[in-house]
Amino acid sequence: MMIDDRTKWPIGVFDSGIGGLSVLKVLKEAFPNENFIYIGDNLNNPVGNRPYQEITSLACHIGSFLATVPVKMMVVACNTFTVVALDDLRAKFSCPIVGVCQGVKTAIQKTKTNIIGIMATAATVQTHIHKHVALEIEPQLSVWEQPCPDLAHIIEKGHLSDAVVETVAKKYIAPIIEKQIDVVVLGCTHYPFITTLLEKITDGQVLFIDPSYETADLVGRVLSDNQLVNRQAAKGTIHIYFTKDVELASELASEFIDPAEFSVEKITL
Ligand code: DGL
Repeated sequence: MMIDDRTKWPIGVFDSGIGGLSVLKVLKEAFPNENFIYIGDNLNNPVGNRPYQEITSLACHIGSFLATVPVKMMVVACNTFTVVALDDLRAKFSCPIVGVCQGVKTAIQKTKTNIIGIMATAATVQTHIHKHVALEIEPQLSVWEQPCPDLAHIIEKGHLSDAVVETVAKKYIAPIIEKQIDVVVLGCTHYPFITTLLEKITDGQVLFIDPSYETADLVGRVLSDNQLVNRQAAKGTIHIYFTKDVELASELASEFIDPAEFSVEKITL
């Protein structure tokens, strides 16, 4: 039975697989005393090429699991779930729910050419959310939206720096190089796993923005606005759950989080 002091309840973070761990890494650094539960629904990865209805239903299914834990707040650590399902999640669950930020604020601050690139899943690009948000902040900006339909799944399978991922990444990066874009937002939480490779392909000429830092700022604001900050002095716990291939997923998780700091288990949602 959960104790009734909500501040001690965990924050639920979720994605269609390992991608959201790039967000969890930043969250745990920003809020070391918080407890986290992470769900990576890798059984259903990738979600970024699916119809919106299916994406929403998968996101709500994970949300239902987290609501029974219970969690004090949910962080949708997936751009695709965020842009497609955030409203439905908020209508269904009563705790505060934060989606990933677009990262365009940072990109606009950093660009010298006034052209920014967005790399994201097909579903995310179809909503043009990054472009809308960016142009609202800076109407003079040019925004190149690059759908990367094959990338998240390749990363999920553990290809972080080999020829398989390099070939696919090069294909998506080619227009970005050709247009001399200097700043690119990683609009899918899987992509920070290959930042080093992307920097190599672009010869260090492109700055890749991980929106997790903007997301962590938002999470901090929502925690304090809702009096949900965990005031415990002890370090928080991290429990990670995957819906398949726990061994590989756990190995990939340690790219971002020290294995001594988390437990990992398989679940059926
Ligand atoms: N990590 C997810 C995102 O941020 C997408 C991965 C997928 O296609 O399942 O969009």
